[in-house]
Amino acid sequence: MTPLISKKVAAAINAQIGLEFLASHQYEAIAAWFKLEGLPRLKAHFSKQAAEERDHAHRFISYLLDAGMELALPAIPAPQCRFKSAEEAAQLALDHELQVTDSIKALLNLAEKENDHFTQNSLQWFINEQLEEVSSADELLQIISRAGDAGLLFVEHYLATKLEADGDDKD
Ligand code: FEO
Repeated sequence: MTPLISKKVAAAINAQIGLEFLASHQYEAIAAWFKLEGLPRLKAHFSKQAAEERDHAHRFISYLLDAGMELALPAIPAPQCRFKSAEEAAQLALDHELQVTDSIKALLNLAEKENDHFTQNSLQWFINEQLEEVSSADELLQIISRAGDAGLLFVEHYLATKLEADGDDKD
C-alpha cells in the first residue's frame, strides 16, 4: 500500500497508541481498586473510561493502517494499582488525561510542520475528545476532594445519576 504519511508521523502515532493503551490499563487498575474499596459506581465509571481509551487506541491503529504504515506497538509500562485515597486515584486519572492531551498537541504540531493534512484532519476528533475528557476528570477530582473519604457515598450517588442519564448503568 502507498504510504500517505511520513515515517516520523507514523512513529509518533505508534507512540500515541502506546499511551492510549497505557491510559486504558491505568483506568482498569483504578476501576479494580475502587471495586475492592466497595465503591461500585466509581468502579463502573473507570471501567467505562478504560473501554474508551481502548477505542482511542483502535481509532489510531485504523488511521495508521489506512495511511499505509506499519503498526509498531511500544512496550506498555505497568500501571499504578494501589492508592492511598480516592483523591490520589482521581488525580492520577487527571494527570494521565493532561499527558495524553500534551502528546496529541505535539502530534498535531508535528503534522503541521510536515504539511500532513490527513493527520491534522484526523486529529481534530481527538482534540475535541480531550477537551471533554480533561474537563470530566477535573470535575470528578473536585467532587471527590470536596466529599473527602467520609463522603464517598455522595460521589457514588452523583455517578449513579450520571451513568443512568448516559444509559451506562452497569458494572
Ligand atoms: Fe485517549 Fe483520554 O485520552
